[in-house]
Amino acid sequence: MSKILTPAYDLAELSSEIKALGKDGGVLLIRKGMDLFDKEGWAKFLAENCGLKLDTRQYNLAEKIEHSRWWEISYQPDKSTVYAHSNTRHPLHNDNSWFSDPAEINFFVIEKQALSGGEQSIYALDRLMSDLADDEPALLADLTSVEVTIQKGAGEYFNKTPIIKLRPEPNIFWNYYRTDKSDPAVKAMCEAFFAYLEKREKTSSVEFIHCDSGDCLCFHDQKVLHGRTAFTATKPFERILFQSMWKI
Ligand SMILES: [Fe+2]
Repeated sequence: MSKILTPAYDLAELSSEIKALGKDGGVLLIRKGMDLFDKEGWAKFLAENCGLKLDTRQYNLAEKIEHSRWWEISYQPDKSTVYAHSNTRHPLHNDNSWFSDPAEINFFVIEKQALSGGEQSIYALDRLMSDLADDEPALLADLTSVEVTIQKGAGEYFNKTPIIKLRPEPNIFWNYYRTDKSDPAVKAMCEAFFAYLEKREKTSSVEFIHCDSGDCLCFHDQKVLHGRTAFTATKPFERILFQSMWKI
């Protein structure tokens, strides 16, 4: 499912692989990507060589939009009640599900990996749809037809959409915690989907990718679900990842 580029890559190959994510989805692991560029060098490469447009919209801890080129996801025990700063497992989700006009490409720079754990979990949408068609066709029918509202904070942005939107092409918008579940039928669907994903995470449908310090990871946010395993950390900032988001 994921493609791994080792440090023998050239820039033309790199830009064509990143552009291909925009068309085909998938995940690209760029081993030792930080030996090639620092964060700002990567931002320049993504804009100038890959034709991507930076989306600076990020939610801060107060759930207000803040414009930032890079977003820090780091272990900070004093802020560990939020996922971005905990060392806990992250269930499968999309990062931009609450935007109706989301950035498609997520680019991670792993500045510092934890000593153990912290693997990225990846469930490709095409595999998920095929698994649902086999196991839970009624749930798949609901996920592709029932509109939900996904929102973070009380600001201007929200996304009213089926969780799996089939047209113009299949895309997924999933954040269990940020989906309005006040309607009992929506709540039942969300609970069933959450439980299904938890179950599937223990099968070969979900891939686990271990990134080392200095690696980069790039994927199409609406064509894969991603999450993270728990990690071991004894001190603040023992794991640091920077994220930026890009429109095709
Ligand atoms: Fe995420």
